[in-house]
Amino acid sequence: MEDPIGSHPTRAEQLDILATVIADLAAAGDRILDFGCGTGYVAKLIFEKRADVSIVGVDLKPDSLEQAKRNLAPNEDRFKGYEGNLESLDDIGVPDGPYRFALTALTFHDLPDEAKKGVIDFAVERLAAGGCIFVYDRLRLSESATFPLQQSIWRRIEREYGRGMRTAEDFEAYEGDIAPNNRPARLSDYFEWFDAAGLSTQILHLHGNVALIAGAKRD
Ligand SMILES: C[S@@+](CC[C@H](N)C(=O)[O-])C[C@H]1O[C@@H](n2cnc3c(N)ncnc32)[C@H](O)[C@@H]1O
Repeated sequence: MEDPIGSHPTRAEQLDILATVIADLAAAGDRILDFGCGTGYVAKLIFEKRADVSIVGVDLKPDSLEQAKRNLAPNEDRFKGYEGNLESLDDIGVPDGPYRFALTALTFHDLPDEAKKGVIDFAVERLAAGGCIFVYDRLRLSESATFPLQQSIWRRIEREYGRGMRTAEDFEAYEGDIAPNNRPARLSDYFEWFDAAGLSTQILHLHGNVALIAGAKRD
């Protein structure tokens, strides 16, 4: 199965770190929640490393969930997809926890901030003691003074990987590009939300404005 998302050159390494950390910390029988699971690519990466864990995926799109089922057929008894909107998680019927891990990959920028916080709180309530949440997404750049630094990173990515990411000519254009399907949170938002939800935060990987952030549930 090929990665369905081609426009993030650093995604392969960041997802490999995510899958590796989960595989390393997991115990046989652990359950994992995947918010915005899409066609099951992240689940596939995890199953390649651990065939003894199970994953519950949630996504808005029934077609993506059908594709996930096909993509994950070799592990069909270990993946269950639920159709629903992350903005109204309580209506979806996600099985009760405890879950050892929760993750979301390139999905939070589609959600309003209240819904992002709602997903974090929903996950923490269902995480087992010692459980962790992982958020992998673009970050919102909020300071015009640092914008040229990010532009340099984007130019380097294009040179190194031969393909680019979503960019902007200047900070004004960047801010004008914020829209309902493009409203990433700031790194400082995640620190605040994780702490308020009872999570200790660790940045696992940060490349320009793309972050893999982990939160470990505090006792
Ligand atoms: C860019 S894709 C990422 C899919 C997968 N996590 C991956 O990394 O390959 C974003 C996914 O989030 C889902 N999504 C976006 N907004 C959602 C919402 N409000 N509720 C549920 N799923 C949503 C989309 O349907 C899509 O499958």
